[in-house]
Amino acid sequence: MATPKESRRLVAGNWKMNLDHQAGCDLATAVVGALGDVALPVVFCAPAIHLHALHSITEGAANVHTGGQDISSFASGAHTGEISGSQLKSVGCSYVIIGHSERRADHQEAGKLLAAKVDQALENGLTPIYCFGETLDQREAGNEEKVVAAQLEEGLAHLDASAMNNVVLAYEPVWAIGTGVTASPAQAQAVHAFIRSWLSSRFGESLANSTSVLYGGSVKPANANELFNQPDIDGGLIGGASLTSDDFVAIVNAY
Ligand code: PGA
Repeated sequence: MATPKESRRLVAGNWKMNLDHQAGCDLATAVVGALGDVALPVVFCAPAIHLHALHSITEGAANVHTGGQDISSFASGAHTGEISGSQLKSVGCSYVIIGHSERRADHQEAGKLLAAKVDQALENGLTPIYCFGETLDQREAGNEEKVVAAQLEEGLAHLDASAMNNVVLAYEPVWAIGTGVTASPAQAQAVHAFIRSWLSSRFGESLANSTSVLYGGSVKPANANELFNQPDIDGGLIGGASLTSDDFVAIVNAY
């Protein structure tokens, strides 16, 4: 039987606003071909316009999935430019990133909006990958746990344990995203242990033991194994290195 940590494993690529349609399809085809029968769930969080085609590419690969990078807080209707949970579901998505620091910064996403997006995801059978993490200033002031707890509370505290059972967390220190500066395994593990204790106090120990908590921020083939070997790090949300088949496959295989 899989250990709790084995059953929490997940590696997701966050392509952000990169790759035109053909390049996205080519990347997914190469990764699926190289991974073969992969033992842990792997997710492509791609620009929305690619998702339908990516679903066809990943359909035959049992453990490879697709996910959106954002979801509307509304169910449907007159919300120009938004994409609903049911629309993501209709093109085969099973995951969606919510609250990425780039959306928090570029679109001032926070609080009730993120909680509503989490609800929309869950109502439509999508697994939210809920992102949070402190800035460099906040870390230098020693406030990382306070910031992480506040971001967890605002998006997730309204859920009950059975809903929370379908949520994946991604701790992404803002100072490590796209900068080439990775949190050291010890720094990341310390925050992940804090997240696990927050989960336990809010939702109980069994939920805390079953929730996948990913690390994101300059994960590369060279540092993935050491990060993934930390007891409370269950995988990664990979930005830049998910755009190259060789790097992304090496990161998945580092587990
Ligand atoms: P990075 O991005 O791996 O390029 O640092 C991670 C993320 O933003 O999810």
